[in-house]
Amino acid sequence: MNTACLTRDEILAWLRQDDPAKLDDLWRRADAARRSAVGNAVHLRGLIEVSNHCIRRCGYCGLRAGHSELERYRLTSDEVIGCARHAVKLGYGTVVLQAGEDPVLTQDWVVNVITRIKRETALAVTLSLGERSWHELLAWKKAGADRYLLRFETSDPELYRKIHPPHGRRKCDRARFLPALREIGYEIGSGVMIGIPGQTYSTLVNDILRFSEMDLDMIGVGPWLAHPATPLGRGDWDPAVSVAEQVPASELMVYKVVALARLVCPHANIPSTTALATLNRKNGRELGLQRGANVFMPNLTPLKYRSLYEIYPAKACIYETADSCHACLQHRIAKMGRHVGSGPGGRRRCGAVA
Ligand code: 5AD
Ligand code: FES
Repeated sequence: MNTACLTRDEILAWLRQDDPAKLDDLWRRADAARRSAVGNAVHLRGLIEVSNHCIRRCGYCGLRAGHSELERYRLTSDEVIGCARHAVKLGYGTVVLQAGEDPVLTQDWVVNVITRIKRETALAVTLSLGERSWHELLAWKKAGADRYLLRFETSDPELYRKIHPPHGRRKCDRARFLPALREIGYEIGSGVMIGIPGQTYSTLVNDILRFSEMDLDMIGVGPWLAHPATPLGRGDWDPAVSVAEQVPASELMVYKVVALARLVCPHANIPSTTALATLNRKNGRELGLQRGANVFMPNLTPLKYRSLYEIYPAKACIYETADSCHACLQHRIAKMGRHVGSGPGGRRRCGAVA
């Protein structure tokens, strides 16, 4: 485990820091840590949004059950395999199969998809399918899945309960669930949204310390973006937090958390997220990559479904094809003096930097 190189007070001071000259120092330190721990490669993970059906009612998410105006879709296994073939053609080393919590994506269906991808390609397979049973997670690992992503969203248990009501009697403690996944061989990824109503500075410090305590292999952080079809987006509930304590869902705050995540977990794979690119379409991706991130997740979902995976509104890249995103990213990465990583690009625990 990496013992955090920053104290709680130092993390808090950075989160509250607004002096651009001082923040330049944070960006420099994060960029240097990124370079020495994971090098100059930017790994591209092809994102396949398999299904927008969801049985949960998260207070922030546009896919929540009960959002009846949203047209729902589910890819066929042939469509998923088509996307994976496309990933290979574009030179990606990983595909990420992401979906709402959709029980129609059964254990066997997912096993079959993983098996086909692994039989046909050398792709690493990351799953992001929500809180699933232990049985399913073991079967998917056995079929060849490499990584699992599940954000813990916030380390404040009370806030978590409010924004993420349990489904029936089933309860999942994500902070325990993820290390258990590592025990059975998955690389584990998690993260939080920044600026959810009710998220205080002190909670966000705990979130960042938790990244380090869990020794995460992947850390995804992005701004909370209000979706009008959700209780949080409509402002239906009172977060009962003073303005001074409430973390803003701002672009600057996202960069701070990306940079701090890099400093507390130097070897993690950290994406510059689509949510960040949505806040700043012009150069949010680049600034994320220059302030600690080393991964980007271009979307491979067939264009006709893209706009339906609406976890938040006005998502970046919903009208661009996989090929045009690819060309755009290659250009952006080269312009920064970085290069696209090859191979699966898993977590490096030690050793030389390519
Ligand atoms: N704004 C920003 N991020 C969101 N997510 C879900 N809804 C939103 C939103 N409205 C994030 C959550 C989830 C991930 C897949 O997307 O952190 O874990
Ligand atoms: Fe999609 Fe640039 S990454 S258009």
